[in-house]
Amino acid sequence: MTTRTRILTGITTTGTPHLGNYAGAIRPAIIASRDSNADSFYFLADYHALIKCDDPLRIQRSRLEIAATWLAGGLDVDRVTFYRQSDIPEIPELTWLLTCVAAKGLLNRAHAYKASVDKNVETGEDPDAGITMGLYSYPVLMAADILMFNAHKVPVGRDQIQHVEMARDIGQRFNHLFGQGKEFFTMPEALIEESVATLPGLDGRKMSKSYDNTIPLFSSAKEMKDAISRIVTDSRAPGEAKDPDNSHLFTLFQAFATPAQSDEFRSELLQGLGWGEAKNRLFQLLDSELGESRERYHQLIERPADLEDMLQLGAQKARSVATPFLHELREAVGLRSFVAQAQVATTTKKKAAKAARFVSFREDDGSFRFRLLAADGEQLLLSRNFADGKTAGQVTKQLQSGQPLDVRNEDLSFSVWLEGECVGDSPAFADSAARDAAIETLRVALTPVQE
Ligand code: TRP
Repeated sequence: MTTRTRILTGITTTGTPHLGNYAGAIRPAIIASRDSNADSFYFLADYHALIKCDDPLRIQRSRLEIAATWLAGGLDVDRVTFYRQSDIPEIPELTWLLTCVAAKGLLNRAHAYKASVDKNVETGEDPDAGITMGLYSYPVLMAADILMFNAHKVPVGRDQIQHVEMARDIGQRFNHLFGQGKEFFTMPEALIEESVATLPGLDGRKMSKSYDNTIPLFSSAKEMKDAISRIVTDSRAPGEAKDPDNSHLFTLFQAFATPAQSDEFRSELLQGLGWGEAKNRLFQLLDSELGESRERYHQLIERPADLEDMLQLGAQKARSVATPFLHELREAVGLRSFVAQAQVATTTKKKAAKAARFVSFREDDGSFRFRLLAADGEQLLLSRNFADGKTAGQVTKQLQSGQPLDVRNEDLSFSVWLEGECVGDSPAFADSAARDAAIETLRVALTPVQE
């Protein structure tokens, strides 16, 4: 079985995406999501947006625009898990569990918080003036985003590396305190795409809303053209040779061109192409690369109900991972049902574990399968088909190894996953309470007995 890489990233929903956001974050993430060995979790970080913005209309507009941008850019929502952070109640719940283990000293060191304190001190204000608990706890919420889905890789900008490191720190601490040898959380790694990380803006500095030097992405062809006409160039006249390597206009062109197109543009600049004409070429290129997506974008924006449906489906997908995992974490810290606790506290746990049994069998087509039966004979799980007995055996072993169980709810049944592949399904239960009780029995049955 191959290990699939889980890639996760979020975008804070406070603004309208510009060309730099697209080239630096959205486009590479869409391309990465097409890798057949990757499971991608992309989301709108709208809880994070509330930390920076108290304008409800702006928050709402930005969520819609950012969702439409991802989809217009070609994100395949059947392939990835695409959702709004605020549709996953497990995330704030996990945030609290993590808040209770996060060291205050760790959060004191967060760059964003420290910068605000420094600014206050400089201007003679109270150090905490204008600083909310949201800003202070920002890294814990972000840790919950990442750890909830056990992401391996987190593509982010440089300014976010520290936050990913804090997620590791907090996750490790939780593992250590409550894991009893089991690693609940995978340690995430920040992924920085050097080649695309910073697209220059109109003035040559990094393209950023805070520098007011952005090129709009999908608003309209005219607005894009107007912005391009404001790109700062040197004063060389038409006919004079230009220096492509010192021209951010050329850098912008390169970010969207094929190598052959770039080569051609480079030699034209060297031969004295005028800046006006060069801007025209850049506009033509961007318009041909982005024109179709721009049309899709406007169609999407006009159908907010469809976007809503898509995001609801995404939330369901995300929660099929988050709900059972959070349940496990709640158990770990001691937030357990009184009924289940009575079971676990006594030797019933051992008995259940011993009594549950795997029964293997072969299908007519020669494939190997197994059932997991509870002590009372109730079928908890029917495996998928395996080509040989050895693989089936390995799966039963792995299920009993004590690693975190990836159980996903599917309506009134559930499925069990190993390394990104579904290995078995439960029967359908009468109601969700019966299903949850069966999941509980399964967990107990698969917990290694500590002698
Ligand atoms: N803080 C990130 C930013 O502003 C957005 C974000 C929120 C994020 N949660 C995340 C990014 C989790 C990666 C993973 O860019």
